[in-house]
Amino acid sequence: MNTVAAIPQYLHETYWWAYVHPKAVRLFERQWLVNLILWGNFAKLRDAALDSLGDTLPGKTLQVACVYGDFTPRLAARLAPDASLDVVDVLPIQLANLRRKLPAAAPVNLVNRDAADLGFADGSYERVVLFFLLHEVPLDVRKATLAEAMRVLKPGGELVIVDYHRPAAWHPLRAVMRWILRNFEPFAMDLWSHELAEWLPAGASIRKETFYGGLYQKLVVRAAPR
Ligand SMILES: C[S@@+](CC[C@H](N)C(=O)[O-])C[C@H]1O[C@@H](n2cnc3c(N)ncnc32)[C@H](O)[C@@H]1O
Repeated sequence: MNTVAAIPQYLHETYWWAYVHPKAVRLFERQWLVNLILWGNFAKLRDAALDSLGDTLPGKTLQVACVYGDFTPRLAARLAPDASLDVVDVLPIQLANLRRKLPAAAPVNLVNRDAADLGFADGSYERVVLFFLLHEVPLDVRKATLAEAMRVLKPGGELVIVDYHRPAAWHPLRAVMRWILRNFEPFAMDLWSHELAEWLPAGASIRKETFYGGLYQKLVVRAAPR
């Protein structure tokens, strides 16, 4: 793995406790803890994303940003023979942590890049997945990440996004989630006040589904066919 990407300021300032510090990686790399953070919905949301990507994944798949828990090992297990998975992350410590979770023979390339500047050729991937990245990044990075994800998709390819969403007014966790997100994940409230479609190319074909009283969403965005 070449380490080339500069670490964005918001990761140092806002998320040192979750992703940057070595003790953070040791603390959070527990399936039960990531499941607790998602109120018991980790497996459901993971499988919703994976099922939208497909049962068997031929060609090239791109995951933008590492995820604690078994998301990537499960994704890698769906690769067809001769298929490959690239996983991008801006933090070398996160890529090193992911490497430890993957079987040695898994056809997974770990790439130290910024989601806002992927550096891959246009139209290189059959599918791209963003699992709980967009709520963690400032608006300019979020817009650039979505533009990059769409740029590297092949014509007719699909981008699958799973992330936070504005919960229903009656949701019993609405107030507590507002407090948690405002205090610990300050960019996340954007996803309560905006539709992700606002930051996607005009005319993109989008299928949206919400989960758990609207607290989470999944979007499947299809790139225009050639
Ligand atoms: C996908 S998000 C959160 C996922 C989820 N909360 C979990 O349980 O892991 C966390 C990852 O995003 C990465 N990340 C944040 N900003 C990034 C950027 N601009 N480019 C690439 N990776 C980024 C962090 O380094 C971290 O590994």
